[in-house]
Amino acid sequence: MSANTSLPEKINQRQATVAVVGLGYVGLPLATRCAQVGFPTRGIDVQQARVDRINAGVSDIGDVPSEMMAPLVTAGKLKAYTTFAIVAEADAVVICVPTPLSKTRDPDNSYIVRALDSIGPFIRKGQLFVLESTTYPGFTREVMVPMLEKASGLIAGTDFHVAFSPERIDPGNEKYGVKNTTKIVGGLTPECGAAVQALYGSFIDTVRVVSSPDTAEMVKLLENTFRAVNIGLVNEVALMCNKLGLNPFEVIDAAATKPFGFMPFYPGPGLGGHCIPIDPLYLSWKLRTMNYQARFIELADTINTAMPAHVVQITQDALNDAGKALKNAKVLVLGVAYKRDIDDYRESPALTIIDLLEKKGAHVAYFDPHVPSYREDGHSRSSIADLGDLGSYDVALITTDHTSFDYADIAKRAQLVVDTRNATKKVTARGNIHLL
Ligand SMILES: NC(=O)c1ccc[n+]([C@@H]2O[C@H](COP(=O)([O-])OP(=O)(O)OC[C@H]3O[C@@H](n4cnc5c(N)ncnc54)[C@H](O)[C@@H]3O)[C@@H](O)[C@H]2O)c1
Repeated sequence: MSANTSLPEKINQRQATVAVVGLGYVGLPLATRCAQVGFPTRGIDVQQARVDRINAGVSDIGDVPSEMMAPLVTAGKLKAYTTFAIVAEADAVVICVPTPLSKTRDPDNSYIVRALDSIGPFIRKGQLFVLESTTYPGFTREVMVPMLEKASGLIAGTDFHVAFSPERIDPGNEKYGVKNTTKIVGGLTPECGAAVQALYGSFIDTVRVVSSPDTAEMVKLLENTFRAVNIGLVNEVALMCNKLGLNPFEVIDAAATKPFGFMPFYPGPGLGGHCIPIDPLYLSWKLRTMNYQARFIELADTINTAMPAHVVQITQDALNDAGKALKNAKVLVLGVAYKRDIDDYRESPALTIIDLLEKKGAHVAYFDPHVPSYREDGHSRSSIADLGDLGSYDVALITTDHTSFDYADIAKRAQLVVDTRNATKKVTARGNIHLL
């Protein structure tokens, strides 16, 4: 593999140019990190506005402060493009484009396919191609490799390197970021594995090389399936506690005092974000093509996707107890981000809950200091400016437990509170609070 032998060396000397395709929640932190450790870094994104903002030193991504990114842009270490020609100059190309579900909840790999189509004309010998977008086991080998080979007339593993390396970023996590989260890499050949290990090893503390891209793809899906199934379990515990008149959060916190053999997961209004609600379905889809039903995944999905309807039901019950109907009730939804202290509302259960409440005739407003407005299915909606009018709503429904909310004040001033996150756990006067 003579054309490639110099790649790890070039990487170690920080002379390799890195191109990151897709500059969102995953790609921008990665590109900034590469630029910080000295790689000439080029970002590519199809959104002109995003590219312009990056080149002006402005970051849209919470985990990448503009103050940290701007000097890299000014120094020419990081530059963004909407065209793919820059791929010809890159030694390593890392793909971080979205992998959502289709309307029928099947994997939608079309963003990766479009990115590969655009990369195709610029492939040359000796390059390393890494896929970071989450996908099903086999995708890198079965779809990406043939596309790269067809476009270039070269042979993967001989003329260029290919690897899969799942992203494990946890937006908003202040303890674990790109550097101190172990990176899993799976190369098509041992040489591909060595090249991708050299790349990530230059800015991540620990890199674990697994035997194949398929294994690396499966590692990611195991991690996220583990979360989805455990959350499905505790969501069902919440449904059972609701029938038994018990507080599920108290039960889980008490169980978590066991120092071995138990790991706490918490129930909530449903799954959200780009990973946990989606990734396990990539795995179950793949297994369906092999005539195998991934039962845990499907059961957890059934329970988790039914949680928004359960939240609407307990809101209706809470109003009913207060002698009110949900129809025409004024409902204030607190938090539309899918988790605490972030601005990402993709797949957020709060959005489904808002739709369900409106279908039942409620008048819904929301407040979220992290999400001033959002757009879903062609409709946009804006947050109310503050909680000054809180007392005028029939019920305040806590769907995201942002730390900036003053829960004692909310409980004091709201007529009724439905708390799906146990955010009010420290509030002592609980007469008007209904828990999930
Ligand atoms: N966000 C997370 O927390 C997270 C965590 C782990 C893994 N992932 C995975 O990483 C991948 C990327 O997710 P994300 O959250 O960064 O998505 P994102 O939507 O934030 O960013 C994706 C970017 O890719 C761009 N893009 C789309 N098509 C493109 C194309 N053909 N060429 C160039 N750019 C293109 C979009 O304009 C966007 O800026 C997904 O597979 C996701 O499942 C995400």
